[in-house]
Amino acid sequence: MKKVEDYVRSIPDFPEKGIIFRDITTVIQSPEGLKLAIDGINEKLKGVDYDVVVGPESRGFIFGVPVAYANGKGFVPVRKKGKLPCETISQDYELEYGTATIEMHKDAIVPGQKVVIVDDLIATGGTTEAIIKLIEQLGGEVVKIIFLIELEGLKGREKLSGYDVDAVIKYAGK
Ligand code: PRP
Ligand code: MG
Repeated sequence: MKKVEDYVRSIPDFPEKGIIFRDITTVIQSPEGLKLAIDGINEKLKGVDYDVVVGPESRGFIFGVPVAYANGKGFVPVRKKGKLPCETISQDYELEYGTATIEMHKDAIVPGQKVVIVDDLIATGGTTEAIIKLIEQLGGEVVKIIFLIELEGLKGREKLSGYDVDAVIKYAGK
């Protein structure tokens, strides 16, 4: 019986030397891999009381939408700057080189809503930290954060202290 981690393709020295890229395309192109990934995330949601799933463009959409659908919830997209057509709030965050900006529609979260964040991977935690700021600015409460993959060596979890963080697959390195 294969496990979901068996479907992750690891590519050494991409995008630069010393980095192992964890490629999820091989997970989702396989019917078994896709099912194991979504089921694995769903397992982490057992017993969690929440209203809506939030996920960031673009890999967060891949996992967030099927999880929301499977649980009878809605999905709120966090998008890169300039993509959302209505009134937005935005948040800058650090990348390895420079900064980036993500946005959410102002009316996407109703104050008091309980939110689960889903993304494919946590590296530095910067993306998730920015998403939390957007949700909380709109009055939402982040009750759980689930990643398919955690790169423990980058210590992204430290940026998310005080939140309930879980990952289906954990790699000790970067
Ligand atoms: C990747 C990944 C996570 C984020 C993790 O997204 O999908 O969203 O980086 O990194 P962090 O923990 O250091 O913030 P990326 O910005 O590459 O965009 P994509 O999902 O559109 O591929
Ligand atoms: Mg991403």
